[in-house]
Amino acid sequence: ADSPERPSLLAGRRVIVTSGPTYEPIDPVRFIGNRSSGRQGHAIAQSAVGAGANVILVTGPVALPDPPGATVVHVETALEMQAAVAAALPADAFIAAAAVADWRVERVDNEKIKKGEGGAPTLRLVENPDILAEVAKMNKPRPAVVIGFAAETNHLVDNAKSKLLRKGCDFIIGNSVASGTTTFGGETNEVLLIGAEGVERWPSMSKAAVADRLVAKLAVELAKRS
Ligand code: CTP
Ligand code: CA
Repeated sequence: ADSPERPSLLAGRRVIVTSGPTYEPIDPVRFIGNRSSGRQGHAIAQSAVGAGANVILVTGPVALPDPPGATVVHVETALEMQAAVAAALPADAFIAAAAVADWRVERVDNEKIKKGEGGAPTLRLVENPDILAEVAKMNKPRPAVVIGFAAETNHLVDNAKSKLLRKGCDFIIGNSVASGTTTFGGETNEVLLIGAEGVERWPSMSKAAVADRLVAKLAVELAKRS
């Protein structure tokens, strides 16, 4: 997938990308989900393939075709995503674009829950593992570059900076999801890139252009670090 405009920036590199939402089952017919379309994560996987990388895309349920040239692992839940990422490691880079559900239902019913005299059921939730933080903090060997996303409705820069520190990743792409923005399901994205050296504001551009710019940044950082 080489072209004069897209030289093999990531040739010989192994890149794992997560994308899409996760679905957390309640019973055989119901689940808890979120509004991620997977467009940005899939665009990153596609761009990395175009740059010559060996790409493993671990994706939750999305209405998108598999990016040609990537190895695609389809999962549904956060725990399945965690296991698929663990199985795909080690890698040179890890990019966490998935909107992983923060909680799952503690006890999933084997049978459809029926309406009845008991009234509406109460769901007890438990927190899911933080896949990005786990990869960023691993030492067997850790990917040289670990990049996360932060979708925030307010205090974007401050929240994204604290996520960078808390999770131990190298960069965070900060994304405003305040009402009125087009991030979810849209074609364009206006993001910030936050790293140890500070904040870069990227102009509004297509998700494909964000992906290309991130891949170019990744190539530079990998060259520095490994
Ligand atoms: N992430 C992850 N595993 C989780 C939750 C989040 O890998 N269980 C990753 C996402 O893929 C993203 C980053 O962590 O790259 C930030 O996700 P976000 O939902 O913004 O952060 P949280 O830590 O879950 O905090 P909150 O939702 O409370 O803002
Ligand atoms: Ca979250």
